[in-house]
Amino acid sequence: MAWRSTAYRVVRPLLFRIGPEAVHHAALAGVRVAGRLPALGRLASGVADPVAAEPIELAGLRFRNRVGLAAGFDKDGVGISGWAALGFGFVELGTVTPRPQAGNPRPRLPRLPEDEALINRMGFNNAGAAALSARIARARGRLPPGLVIGVNVGRNRDGGEQDFAESASAVARVADYLAINVSSPNTAGLRDLQGTDALARLIGAVREAAPGRPVLVKLAPDLDADVRSTLVRGVVAAGGAGVIVSNTSTGRDGLRSSRASEAGGLSGAPLRERALQAVAEARAAAGDGVVVIGSGGVGSAADARALIDAGADLVQLWTGMIYAGPALIGEAVAAC
Ligand code: FNR
Repeated sequence: MAWRSTAYRVVRPLLFRIGPEAVHHAALAGVRVAGRLPALGRLASGVADPVAAEPIELAGLRFRNRVGLAAGFDKDGVGISGWAALGFGFVELGTVTPRPQAGNPRPRLPRLPEDEALINRMGFNNAGAAALSARIARARGRLPPGLVIGVNVGRNRDGGEQDFAESASAVARVADYLAINVSSPNTAGLRDLQGTDALARLIGAVREAAPGRPVLVKLAPDLDADVRSTLVRGVVAAGGAGVIVSNTSTGRDGLRSSRASEAGGLSGAPLRERALQAVAEARAAAGDGVVVIGSGGVGSAADARALIDAGADLVQLWTGMIYAGPALIGEAVAAC
């Protein structure tokens, strides 16, 4: 497996001379190629067998393995078959909003190589929930069994609380699970919905819009431990199937990069410890039988495994793939 990491280390400096958003588009183009040539996807990620030895049943869904793509990488679902070829067990598409929107002006994705981190202030650039629904429907016929497709739902910049249910309704027939995003820092007021009453309303509305689909809530890492535990219990009490901990952070502690003060949500290695802690706290608050997905700072197989050992059922990758390359997928799948 080591040659893949070495090869990526050779290519990475070249990629890092290009703007982060251009690299992101190139990565998505590569993923689409992998969708047409699955053998190439397997070669790039080094995934030996994407189907875990033990069946993984969570919230009534069967996952082929515990490693997923985190929300925001493929908001519009353009690379679903490619993600499957790369070996993921599940993909979380979105965040989508009811109406398409362009997001914030560029540049909006500063790279912090000294910290193996990114800061993003994308602002939910997406083609809208109806377009995503059509893309998933088209991809469905070509997917391997056991690839779970989640859709992360949010609200338009100028929208309201009803946007979550509206997005959910548009994808209800094609999504395996819904994730309510109340934790992105780039939509004004969104994080204020992280209260037990607001979450109960949102979970109720999304469940009604997508009957029979498990609903998860994605929380911010910048919450006090007792607040997070209260919210996790509130999610469960309101009929939520689980939580995703955590999203990007508004905190900037301990960063070395000169770009650390840029506005947006911080992701990558600096989130690692906090994600571990959040997973352990969420598991303790939720008890067994509630889904806990770990997200934040996974940059190696050991990081992914540590989240599972801390109590996560599933883990998600994002920024780690920019720094470690697609081999991270194969290594994480083997370790989890
Ligand atoms: C994200 N993330 C994100 N999360 C979400 O719920 N909805 C979204 O639209 C996005 N968009 C997004 C864009 C970019 C450029 C990044 C880097 C991240 C957050 C992501 O899903 C994940 O939770 C965090 O990035 C933490 O994980 P990593 O990146 O440290 O592995």
